[in-house]
Amino acid sequence: MEQVVENYKYEGKELEIVTYPDPVLTTVAEEVKPEEFNDELKELCKNMLYTMYNAPGIGLAAPQIGLSKRIFVVDVDYDREETSEGSGEYTLSNFNPKVFINPKFKLKEGDITYQEGCLSLPGVYEDVKRYEHIVVEYQNTNGEVQEIEANELLSICIQHENDHLDGIVFIDRLSNLKKNFFKKKLIKQKKLQATT
Ligand code: NI
Repeated sequence: MEQVVENYKYEGKELEIVTYPDPVLTTVAEEVKPEEFNDELKELCKNMLYTMYNAPGIGLAAPQIGLSKRIFVVDVDYDREETSEGSGEYTLSNFNPKVFINPKFKLKEGDITYQEGCLSLPGVYEDVKRYEHIVVEYQNTNGEVQEIEANELLSICIQHENDHLDGIVFIDRLSNLKKNFFKKKLIKQKKLQATT
């Protein structure tokens, strides 16, 4: 198994998460080339996991940290509990990190609808219809080809993150009316943030 997820240690550098409408989020990401499977890639994946846990989120794709590469990380299993009520400090446990590089769907079937959110689209939560059951082939951080079968939340999360690699954000999966509404809202929100 890959070194980054085996005996995972919660450590790394926090990376800046880019928000919509940053153009990197609407760009199709590039494949990770064979010569790029090195320690630098492992370090990047470690830092992406750390950033995801701290956000907190259940998935993070490389375009979300401004890197247009076909890489994403997920963990739909970890626990996050406030150290003491109102402290604002959290203890994370039961990590189950997964790293996907150059993923490809081998199977997509069934339907599932779930309310999604995205670290790059703050404040937007909407129902999105996805495939219920998927099989994905991908490379781990050593460049070895792996396959995973996923259902329910893991399946949803993988599809959401894979969309990021294709320059698709989850509001693109909504009706045109809703999509345009949230686009305007997010652009306005970002402008407001930039001026305050
Ligand atoms: Ni997202």
